[in-house]
Amino acid sequence: MRSFIHALPKVELHVHLVGSAGVGTVLELARRHPEAGVPTDRAELERFYTFRDFDHFLKVYWAVQSMLKGRADIHTLVVGLARELARQNVRYAEVTVTPHNHITDGMAGDELLAGLASGRAEAAALGVDLAWCFDIPGEKGLVAARETLTFALSERPDGLVSFGLAGPEAGIGRAQFAPFFDAARDAGLHSVPHAGETTGPETIWSAVRDLRAERIGHGTSCVEDPALVEHLVLKGIPLEVCPTSNVRTQQVASIETHPVRQMLDAGVVVTLNTDDPPFFGATLEGEYLAVAAALDLTPAQVARLAENAVLASFLPGSRKTALLEEIADVVA
Ligand code: ADE
Ligand code: ZN
Repeated sequence: MRSFIHALPKVELHVHLVGSAGVGTVLELARRHPEAGVPTDRAELERFYTFRDFDHFLKVYWAVQSMLKGRADIHTLVVGLARELARQNVRYAEVTVTPHNHITDGMAGDELLAGLASGRAEAAALGVDLAWCFDIPGEKGLVAARETLTFALSERPDGLVSFGLAGPEAGIGRAQFAPFFDAARDAGLHSVPHAGETTGPETIWSAVRDLRAERIGHGTSCVEDPALVEHLVLKGIPLEVCPTSNVRTQQVASIETHPVRQMLDAGVVVTLNTDDPPFFGATLEGEYLAVAAALDLTPAQVARLAENAVLASFLPGSRKTALLEEIADVVA
């Protein structure tokens, strides 16, 4: 199963750029920016990077974020992610970038865009095509939403395909962001908010109805509402399921008890993703392997998950067809 999963050409639809920074990348950044106080010794950094709970996750996340000062840092981050994706035979990824956070931390918008562009070019040379999702950090409210929208639409960098919403969900209603998603969709960006990761099905309903979500980030709690599950199936709205992330943030007890089983049984379009891979000790291959083992899936069923990700992506039709053919060759 491990070599079968490796051979499948894969697509990752839910990975945060800052959350993708592995120890090697953070070591490089920490040595470049000693003033940030992040350990520059590998063993010490590995201890710092050993995720304990959600608060510790946020602490490390913000420490990485604080070292991103200019285009070289963004380039380092993007190339580090691309190398890791190439290693796992991941051919295409839609990567979530949060411009508001970088700009608030003092980075010029032009520096961010230059780092994304040069990193993306190097990724392509490694055989990994990257696309961007610019997302609103929900906890920063409507000012951040406006800034994210304005930045996305005025800069419109190559590879920008979607508009997202992340961060905590409790007390941060999705509906307040509707005007920003309307404008993003009118400009041709796809709607991919997080919903139902840390709150119930009503948040997913709101993402679908108010933000016209074309995919849902996580969507874990959908299984609590059969009418919602039916709606997701009927409309073919895929879920970006991140099983290990959900276990590590203690939203579900284990992969074995993750609602991915009910989602698949109900006919929901499930895709597997990593969210913030090194933080959670996750890899995309690992997610496929863990779900295959927990649900006792056949190779054909595993291949179907890889196909789902291709079909749910915002790749052009010709690229989807080519990847689906490659998957079929691996199955044959
Ligand atoms: N940003 C980075 N990781 C996240 C997560 N797991 N949930 C919401 N926002 C995030
Ligand atoms: Zn996420």
